[in-house]
Amino acid sequence: MDLTAANESLATSKSRSWDEIRRDFPVLHQTINDHPLAYLDNAASSQMPQQVIDRLVWYHSGEHSNVHRGVHTLSQRATRAYDEAREKVASFINASSSKECIFVSGTTEGINLVAHSYGRKFIGQDDTILVSALEHHSNIVPWQIIGEETGAKIEVIPMDDRGELILDDLDQMLSGSVKLVCVNHVSNALGTINPIEEIIERAHAQDVPVLVDGAQAAPHMAVDVQALDADFYVFSGHKMCAPTGIGVLWGKQKWLDQMQPYQGGGDMILSVTWEGTKYNDLPFKFEAGTPNIAGAIGLGAAVDYLQSIGLDRIARREADLLAIATAALEELSGVFVIGTAREKAAVLSFGVEGVHPHDVGTILDNEGVAIRAGHHCAQPVMDRLGVPATARASFAFYNHEADIEQLVAGLYSVKEIFGV
Ligand code: ALA
Repeated sequence: MDLTAANESLATSKSRSWDEIRRDFPVLHQTINDHPLAYLDNAASSQMPQQVIDRLVWYHSGEHSNVHRGVHTLSQRATRAYDEAREKVASFINASSSKECIFVSGTTEGINLVAHSYGRKFIGQDDTILVSALEHHSNIVPWQIIGEETGAKIEVIPMDDRGELILDDLDQMLSGSVKLVCVNHVSNALGTINPIEEIIERAHAQDVPVLVDGAQAAPHMAVDVQALDADFYVFSGHKMCAPTGIGVLWGKQKWLDQMQPYQGGGDMILSVTWEGTKYNDLPFKFEAGTPNIAGAIGLGAAVDYLQSIGLDRIARREADLLAIATAALEELSGVFVIGTAREKAAVLSFGVEGVHPHDVGTILDNEGVAIRAGHHCAQPVMDRLGVPATARASFAFYNHEADIEQLVAGLYSVKEIFGV
């Protein structure tokens, strides 16, 4: 498909059926171990539609060059496409300015950038960083590193057995020397949708800024950073139909302006002399070196693709898939759901009595079903729930009910093999 055809197909995709949309994803149409692939590991990484793949091929075959450095035509083409991708990302999250959108390699780098640049400037000895009990390691370890360096301490917003944050003592926890609250929008391990609007409002009432890890939210629901009023919002391209190695740190300009660069190098400077360096304006101050140009352009194409379907439509579709899968697993004796928050996104963690999740994952793979088994880079969540690991099915809009039927059939095999 050429680019014009891809764009035409996007333009009409608001009215396309889910079956048609599913056909956009070439990787889904294969057999694994003689079964159709049922790809239910979208929280780890989602798949790319042909439209994004075509955009990448076009970049590599017709546009590739460095950005912001060349007067020649190819460099201008690449620069235009890269800059347009930033505008698309800004519109995707309703940022007031694309200057507030920094391209990073992914959520992990975005959080590390904030830890480094905000942390080293604003967090000191005797300060506290509030981190929720539901976090991925990427929203824990950078803060522990800053804590070790500065002497600041980490306090944990607790969670209950369902996987919901307990906010009863939040106001008290926020008082004093808290310099930042770090919380995910959606838990990667359990699917809990956290009440981040409320957390942000209560934190701001005490002048505490909030960083939101949006890795598991941005692909699944409409995000409006201005309405949320978060201070930092971070997400990854590869979980939203874009390539790996690209992500976005959005931050309020008032913070980004005050923060020191994360890395030094080309493009992040206005001038360099032996006496010193004058840093470039936002967003370039935080983008040292040749960026992931192809990744950013691919992310822009993924944004176009998701918006052509509509994030609200995507959220409704995934809520339906989650409800069907949850009901199906609850019917299975010996299978238990882990994480029963009242508000959940498209993540279904579960266990099978007496069977290690890795065995569950291996048997399911034998039947073509891809899930993730393990601690999901959220060991404190596992510790809190008293499990070493979970099996996790995670959905995207391109999944269909047959994937869930295949998951259930695979779980019957697990039960049979282990006599559950
Ligand atoms: N953070 C990704 C996951 O939850 C890798 O699987």
